Amino acid sequence: MVALLAICVSLLLLIPLTLLYKLWWVPLHLQHIINSQGIKGPSYKILHGTTKEAIKIQRQTSNTPMDLSHDIFPRVQPHLYSWMKLYGNNFVHWIGTQPYIVITEPELIKEVLSNKEGTYPKTKIKSYLKKLLGDGIVVAEGEKWLRLRKLANHAFHGECLKDMVPAMIASVENMLENWRFHENKEIDVCSDFRLLTSEVISRTAFGSSYLEGRKIFDMLTDLCALISRNALKIRFFGIEKFMRTQDDIEADKIENLLRDSIMEMVKKRQDEVKTGRAQNFGNDFLGSLLKAHHDTDQKNPISAVDIIDECKTFYFAGQETTYGLLSWSVLLLAIHTDWQEKARKEILELFGQENPNSDGIARLKMMDMIINESLRLYPPIVVNQRKSTKGARLGNHILPANMKIHLPILVLHHNPTIWGDDAHLFKPERFSKGVAAATKNNLAAFCPFGLGPRTCVGMNFATNEAKIALSMILQRYKFKLSPNYVHSPVQVITLRPQHGVQVVLQAL
Ligand code: HEM
Repeated sequence: MVALLAICVSLLLLIPLTLLYKLWWVPLHLQHIINSQGIKGPSYKILHGTTKEAIKIQRQTSNTPMDLSHDIFPRVQPHLYSWMKLYGNNFVHWIGTQPYIVITEPELIKEVLSNKEGTYPKTKIKSYLKKLLGDGIVVAEGEKWLRLRKLANHAFHGECLKDMVPAMIASVENMLENWRFHENKEIDVCSDFRLLTSEVISRTAFGSSYLEGRKIFDMLTDLCALISRNALKIRFFGIEKFMRTQDDIEADKIENLLRDSIMEMVKKRQDEVKTGRAQNFGNDFLGSLLKAHHDTDQKNPISAVDIIDECKTFYFAGQETTYGLLSWSVLLLAIHTDWQEKARKEILELFGQENPNSDGIARLKMMDMIINESLRLYPPIVVNQRKSTKGARLGNHILPANMKIHLPILVLHHNPTIWGDDAHLFKPERFSKGVAAATKNNLAAFCPFGLGPRTCVGMNFATNEAKIALSMILQRYKFKLSPNYVHSPVQVITLRPQHGVQVVLQAL
């Protein structure tokens, strides 16, 4: 009895002590180490870190109307903006007990992203984001990443990309059929671009139509909303295993339904081969995944779970980002109609009234400049993330292990020291002599698609799709911004126009 009492008392003492150690002593110790490296920031508060402060700043900003300005950093990441002003270019903030070191100097960003020794690996993802990307290519490391990357490289490069042009054109034609009913009227291009980019990735990577993939897209959209809503919510010690919120239940449900829908699509393709209706799994991305899955010569073939993760990743990455690029480009061209004219002149010289072709797409110079300037001002991915390993030396700093490192692309792209006093203005001419000249050979200063070994695998796919869509629109229409447009860029995983982009179309 006495022994039992003693155990109970020790436990009662041990639990609060362990909690105090993990929630107070460890973070404060880390804060001291980081601060002593010259990296300051808002002070860690027990349990929530600096999230309460971040939420407060975000709420204040999102409730105020915004001018039609491209100076969007203070709007999209107001907490980072406030802290950067207070603590300098590199600073630390906390989500719960996890420190996030924010690095905005291009040289240091290059050091992190170009590192090939594994000093700054990808961060492990948890919770709802894990349900979106699984353990797929975006988070994998080592052998597994290499295998997935080879497959993706093959499906989205060179000849394969050329073969996708007709499907991209057909999808844009479908969209423009619908635009005929909006001539001389207002149209919100965002909803149509959402459909277009969904249709393009469905057709080119998965051999299906948007309608067939529709369930998958709808579920991914719902999952994105859950991820954004919960981005700054803190939960400790796996408490979600015992206390399920409505969002947890919803996220599990979506994950299961996504898995079933993807497996249905996979099975359909496998059955075609089994029953002799098709000779092989096909040349698209899904076909490559299935070939790798059934390859008996491989030591570690791609598993069914890998296939599901890759399909989710490419459905999401292939659609969401390019949708942003198209929407922001049309907004910028609707404001700057002189650039519409310049781009249209080039398009008509190259293609006349014919559909775009691969050779011409590669020669579109004005369009390249416009797309680069759009990606600079409104990068669809606003922040990149890595973590530190033991002994990581970044510039003059020695970082403790397991620090999350935030690399805000948006901040880099709007930095007046790099881009000049007109950094927030739309000036595609800054790219007239290429990216190297625009950045004065500081290549890390412009990285909408990332940098180093993990550079975006869909970069050429996305820019081809955007060039085709914008060319075909400009061949047929002039457009100007509708007075109903409300400027409010928001980050819902990617950077989106919160209230759409409304333009008035004038047929040519
Ligand atoms: C304008 C459009 C796009 C933008 C701005 C964009 C941006 C990015 C960025 C910044 C990264 C690097 C992330 C990091 O370093 O952690 C990335 C990676 C990736 N992107 Fe994109 N992306 C776009 C379109 C696409 C498309 C169309 C696809 C698929 C067809 C795609 C698939 C991927 C994949 C799979 C990765 C991970 C690569 C790896 O880790 O090896 N992206 N993207």
